[in-house]
Amino acid sequence: MESDPHGIRAFELASWQRVAADYGDTFAAATRGFIDPLLDAARVNADTRVLDVCCGPGLVAGAAAARGARASGVDFSSAMLAIARAALPRVEFSQGDAEALPYAEDSFDAVVANFGVHHVPHPAAALAEMHRLLAPGGRAAFTVWPRPDTNVPWRLLFDAIRAHGALDAAKTPPPSGSINSEENCAAALAEAGFRDADARLVERAWRMKSVHDLLAAFRNGTARTAALIEAQDADALPAIAAHMAAQAERFRHGDELHIPIAAILASAVRP
Ligand SMILES: C[S@@+](CC[C@H](N)C(=O)[O-])C[C@H]1O[C@@H](n2cnc3c(N)ncnc32)[C@H](O)[C@@H]1O
Repeated sequence: MESDPHGIRAFELASWQRVAADYGDTFAAATRGFIDPLLDAARVNADTRVLDVCCGPGLVAGAAAARGARASGVDFSSAMLAIARAALPRVEFSQGDAEALPYAEDSFDAVVANFGVHHVPHPAAALAEMHRLLAPGGRAAFTVWPRPDTNVPWRLLFDAIRAHGALDAAKTPPPSGSINSEENCAAALAEAGFRDADARLVERAWRMKSVHDLLAAFRNGTARTAALIEAQDADALPAIAAHMAAQAERFRHGDELHIPIAAILASAVRP
């Protein structure tokens, strides 16, 4: 099916506006562990001019500023930006779309996006914008999730919904396309004109008290996954949670669950 860019964008914007206030205390626990590898891949150090695209509450820009970098952030969600600006008054945050970034060409030494590129209707357009803003020799780096059936937190949820709910219940616009493997991430960077494109899997543990934290993070900190959970029959949710809890026991360490979570980290150089 042809993807509908306006439908995707409107759905994404409404989702992120809705979850902005809760994101930092919920799903950010899953994304935070990938910030340092992302900044390392983009070689962000003191005085690097770095742009954090799809910055959300500004966690990446904040980590870059803590390295002494000259950090800026951009996101299309006013609710996310309000949180970022309150948390980091000295970092400059702008409202803008990843496919049409409000900066001049050659403005940055590094442009990064932590779990943003797969949310835009045309990931190739976002990569082209990252390329445009970079000075020659500058580095782009981004993280995205690999396919959900290969990533434990989503597999726990999807297996439980398959057993007790309906995987096709959500009436969300289909995602824009595939930027979810090492191969297609590296290829997308090369097609955008970058050189030395590299993409690899990075693995972390997502620590939590119980699968209720995992469900709360998906419901209050994501877009499509939240819509899938909300679309289930309310009566099915206890069985879905119980199925997830039983399957997650193998990840128990004392009174915590350490759920493995993987991301693709892709990076490249602007010639
Ligand atoms: C999963 S959150 C990641 C936030 C942040 N990068 C982090 O690591 O915590 C995705 C972010 O992408 C933003 N976003 C999605 N589509 C966008 C677009 N087309 N242009 C700009 N921002 C977008 C959302 O508003 C949201 O803040």
